[in-house]
Amino acid sequence: MPQLILSGGSPLSGRVAIEGAKNAALPACVASLLTNEPVVLGRIPDLRDVETILATIASLGKTVSRSDGVVTISHGAMLRDEAESRFVRQMRASFLVLGPLLARLGRAVVPLPGGCTIGPRPVDLHLDGLRQLGAHVERQDTAVIVTTDGLRGADVRLPYPSVGATEQLMIAATLATGETRIENAAREPEILDLASLLSGMGAQIDIDPEGIVIAGGRPLHGAHHRIIPDRIEAGTYLLAGAITGGQVTVEEVEPSHLGGFLPVLEQAGVSLDVGESRITARATARLRATRVTTAPHPGFPTDLHPPLAALLSLAPGESRIEETVFKQRFGYVDPLRRMGARIQVDDVSAVIQGVRELRGASVTAPDLRAGAALVLAGLAADGQTTLCGIEHLERGYARICAKLTALGGRVERTA
Ligand code: UD1
Repeated sequence: MPQLILSGGSPLSGRVAIEGAKNAALPACVASLLTNEPVVLGRIPDLRDVETILATIASLGKTVSRSDGVVTISHGAMLRDEAESRFVRQMRASFLVLGPLLARLGRAVVPLPGGCTIGPRPVDLHLDGLRQLGAHVERQDTAVIVTTDGLRGADVRLPYPSVGATEQLMIAATLATGETRIENAAREPEILDLASLLSGMGAQIDIDPEGIVIAGGRPLHGAHHRIIPDRIEAGTYLLAGAITGGQVTVEEVEPSHLGGFLPVLEQAGVSLDVGESRITARATARLRATRVTTAPHPGFPTDLHPPLAALLSLAPGESRIEETVFKQRFGYVDPLRRMGARIQVDDVSAVIQGVRELRGASVTAPDLRAGAALVLAGLAADGQTTLCGIEHLERGYARICAKLTALGGRVERTA
């Protein structure tokens, strides 16, 4: 299996261009199922998760072509109403195809996404919401069969602002007759990007402080759309600069999307210079212990919890990261401890006692963002780190070796 070999101790320095956001690209590809006209998406990152979603929609009948970060999704064969389990098992976001297939075909059969190492990830909110739009849901052991004689707009109040459920309902509601109001909807930048794409396809979507309102049933057409920058990739590279005692500038970013993260980085003792579409993070003489709680946007993003934990493991004193979104997101703790970090999990919090240095070790990434935490730790550690499980890491970080090397990091990927 491929591995990353990291030699720690070189401060990262320089500029890195940030890719389009994985979590915006995936629902955008799914939204193309709403129309037979071509949907052209720019700034699509070159990632395994993107390949998986494109393979999923190709298997449902679409024609997909790709060049230089631009993906064109056009009408191919008749749409099929059954998604294949090999795709949905690989990646939970494939479950989003349920909404558009149901809205267009009146029936969809989609495998239930499997378990996940960051904790149980149910789809009850997706299914309850679709029921309220007039769907009949039959849950089987490994799949759901959802049918409708026509989706109708409704007022749906989500008990939790789930990103996936909000996307599922927004996409389905564009083809429902009448108005849908989603209250307590997620507000992540990726949700706003999906709204912008759907509007470009002819949907009428308003976002107000109470929720998202979709006037459904308008004819949808093709569109050109450019994906927003990946705020999680940007945050990870800023942390990489800080943990190695260097200075990294992320370019082509949208700083306002990092509103919940940047103040925490400053609290942790990192100096920031924020421009219109770039951010520079510079390590100062001393990191500071910090307390933070993850929360839906605009709070501190859960996906940056593990990489932040790597940084705080080197901040003198006691830090605490409370995880409220994915309450079992602590897969990074054991491997980070093997590298010398002092971290205890207390209920849903990581309690971190800062150490003077981390040491290289052989570790395995249990999931995507834990993988990012271990890369950061390996770049800062004394000695060599061998990181296995990089298939997780490569789901979310395009060209990570090349980017880190260009910043002066010493990292090699074995085939
Ligand atoms: C998306 C992101 C992921 C990010 C997360 C939270 C994508 C592809 N992934 O995941 O990177 O960490 O948002 O910002 O965009 N829940 C339920 N029932 C449901 C749906 C969710 O209980 O039907 C729970 C989940 O178990 C979790 C919480 O709600 O505890 C948040 O999940 P959700 O916001 O849906 O995250 P995802 O869309 O899966």
